Amino acid sequence: MTTPPDAIAALDEADPLAPMRALFDLPEGLVYLDGNSLGVLPRGVSERVARVINDEWRQGLISSWGGGWIDLPTSVGAAIARLIGATSEEVVVGDSTSVNLFKCLAAALRLRPERRVILTEADNFPTDNYISQGLSDLLGGYQIRYVAAGDDPAAALGDDVAVLSLTHVNYRTAAVHDMQRMTAAAHDVGALAVWDMSHSTGALPIDLNLAGADFAVGCTYKYLNGGPGAPAFCFAAQSLLDEVRQPLSGWMGHMDPFAFGPDYEPAPAARRFLCGTPQILSLGALSAALELWTEVDMVAVRRKSLALSDLFIGLVDEFAEEHGLEIVTPRQHEQRGSHVSIRAANGHAVMRALAERGVIGDFRAPDLMRFGFTPLYTSFTDIWRAAMALRDVFESRAWHDERFAQRLRVT
Ligand SMILES: Cc1ncc(COP(=O)(O)O)c(C=O)c1O
Repeated sequence: MTTPPDAIAALDEADPLAPMRALFDLPEGLVYLDGNSLGVLPRGVSERVARVINDEWRQGLISSWGGGWIDLPTSVGAAIARLIGATSEEVVVGDSTSVNLFKCLAAALRLRPERRVILTEADNFPTDNYISQGLSDLLGGYQIRYVAAGDDPAAALGDDVAVLSLTHVNYRTAAVHDMQRMTAAAHDVGALAVWDMSHSTGALPIDLNLAGADFAVGCTYKYLNGGPGAPAFCFAAQSLLDEVRQPLSGWMGHMDPFAFGPDYEPAPAARRFLCGTPQILSLGALSAALELWTEVDMVAVRRKSLALSDLFIGLVDEFAEEHGLEIVTPRQHEQRGSHVSIRAANGHAVMRALAERGVIGDFRAPDLMRFGFTPLYTSFTDIWRAAMALRDVFESRAWHDERFAQRLRVT
């Protein structure tokens, strides 16, 4: 890998978060800018999972359920609660973001029985809209109202809206919603606000309770580094917890699962959002991955994230026009999440050529190249190397190689 100029090396030297990189097991020589999709393995996680398998499962067997496994959805929830401005009562971990969204949307609709509209965005992450569609098919009589990309969802609110369902940071563009303003606008018309925090948890300072959010869900395998398919979190505001009911009324969300009673009675607090048996191996990995966050200052994370994306945008600006590239991520800090997306007609082939040069980002159809910045382990040198490699792929026309013409199954 090429040596960066002194000015870039100086940014890394002055970076207060730089020592955290050593807490991650990053493959040697790789510039990894896809932690917004799958976070890097934190050190200590493999050992923890090995302990869960060898000690707790192999030796402890069934006794390990009573020895702590049963509480993992709430104890891991409490560790996440600190990062999202929630109380430990309000958060549980289990299932996927898609499933938790189903539970939250259904719970919210049930709290507004006289209303029939789910208001969301056309360019939401697809699963969010698929879940709304599936739920409205199941229930019948609901309308999903889509706001076009760039339009203000608050302007589409009316007194027929039961739920405003938004993603805090857009997965394509990284555009950020003002959560407090949107939630207040939803409440003003009597609607509830459900937030998908997948691209903001661990990337931006978040205060769900300050924003007045009613429900929230989010992935833990991105910025929280919980591992592939790590279980998602689910938040419901304290003020709703006594009355709220979710439809996946499995035994783990029951008040007393081991009473084996005939009828469902919801557990207190957010535990009622659990459904079936917790995913212990994944929760073990996630709980170990979360340990490094106890010392992290989210304001410092945000400051570095913006500095990284500013640097990247500035470097790409130098050759963007010449190669027909358009940076679609907002340039204003308050409107930008922690990734940068660039529109390029042959983006998929470019990302494959870039990967061959040891720079990993991803591609979102039809034409977006996406680069994620994870301040705990991304360096300014990484950013410089990625921008230089990108420029080289265009200048050398490396992406023209027919090896890159075929779309991969997973992009
Ligand atoms: C914004 C957003 N929501 C939801 C999901 C999907 O979550 P899951 O596959 O855990 O259901 C993703 C996945 O990348 C996402 O980016």
